Amino acid sequence: MSAPTREEALALDAADPLRGFRERFTLPKDVLYLDGNSLGALPAHTPERLRRMVEEEWGNGLIRSWNEAGWYDLPRGLGDRIAPLVGSAPGQIVVCDSTSVNLFKVLTAALRLRPGRSTLVSELGSFPTDLYLTEGVAPAWRLLLGRDGDTLDELLDADTAVVLLSHVDYRTGRLQDMAAVTAKVQASGALMVWDLCHSVGALPVELDACGADFAVGCGYKYLNGGPGAPAFLYAAARHHDAARQPLTGWFGHAEPFAMSPEYAPAAGIGRFLTGTPPLLSFAGLDAALDVWASVDMALVRAKSLSLTSFFLRATDALGLPTVTPRVDSERGSQVSLQHESAYAVVQALIARGVIGDFRERDVMRFGFTPLYVSHADVLDAAEALRDVLESKSYLDPRFTQRGAVT
Ligand SMILES: Cc1ncc(COP(=O)(O)O)c(C=O)c1O
Repeated sequence: MSAPTREEALALDAADPLRGFRERFTLPKDVLYLDGNSLGALPAHTPERLRRMVEEEWGNGLIRSWNEAGWYDLPRGLGDRIAPLVGSAPGQIVVCDSTSVNLFKVLTAALRLRPGRSTLVSELGSFPTDLYLTEGVAPAWRLLLGRDGDTLDELLDADTAVVLLSHVDYRTGRLQDMAAVTAKVQASGALMVWDLCHSVGALPVELDACGADFAVGCGYKYLNGGPGAPAFLYAAARHHDAARQPLTGWFGHAEPFAMSPEYAPAAGIGRFLTGTPPLLSFAGLDAALDVWASVDMALVRAKSLSLTSFFLRATDALGLPTVTPRVDSERGSQVSLQHESAYAVVQALIARGVIGDFRERDVMRFGFTPLYVSHADVLDAAEALRDVLESKSYLDPRFTQRGAVT
């Protein structure tokens, strides 16, 4: 395919139905931000929402705000605001804890729903926390898809209790066919858990329509909830009565203020809560969800594919291998290019204000967030990359020395 031109970029941006969203974010003028798949940008009204939470709800409302400012309802309320983004009916999502903690809860709950079966399947290339948690939950019974070249079909058998997969792979950006994989896993009698960290806010997700059993996802990436924003957890309503999660704290109790010495799980999704929510970070996610309330995810997907294919075209001439699928239906919202000095190249780009990130061992990862990235940005980033590679500026010791990874 031919390299895209500036005119093409400007024409696509002029016709972009999402272009108005960029002004709803505060981004530094000298930065081209392609890392919203790691930490989303700051919505312009978030500081005011945080100020309100701190000064009014906490400062003036004090303890009364649990009821009067709706603090108590936030875990379920924010869950219901995320629900349309992931194709869930209300009442099946709570916002709480971190993705890692929520993984522990849903994996254990899912295993307990399949007594008599003992193996838990996850994928070798998954984000490490997913691997570590499957090991933590079922140390002796974990199978790794991809370790010995086995396919999912070969691994699934009458002993498989749970399968955990990422909807979009954090490193390659490969998108799984959620409907087909869920159906295959469930046909074997196992339960399906999806990690949505790299798909929520990046593309339409259809948990209910695909029949997913459980899912977890992250608030600080594409959702733009802020650093360390709380995560979310989805459990299909059909599992609510029988599901028993292991972190049985008082927030998941049927009557937390009865102060009973015995645990009795709340009805519905509330039983997946554990303890007092970190409300200051809930305010950041709450503000971010105001933006998402008016976003059409079909438009997000169309623009995301346009941005990623534009970047692939714009960087084709550099001859870099990519681990990201070129087929649209198999790609999330990122492009990962490979280079033997990937770390240094990413640092050299960051020094020029083009922020992507590096992932072991040789991956330069560029995330495309349709609400605030344009086709002109994509072209600028591709040109900066070409310049860094051609000038070999990445060989400067400032860039080759490994420090903390962004
Ligand atoms: C696929 C995936 N799962 C989980 C996490 C992180 O989980 P936590 O927020 O608990 O650190 C990440 C973070 O990048 C991720 O990419």
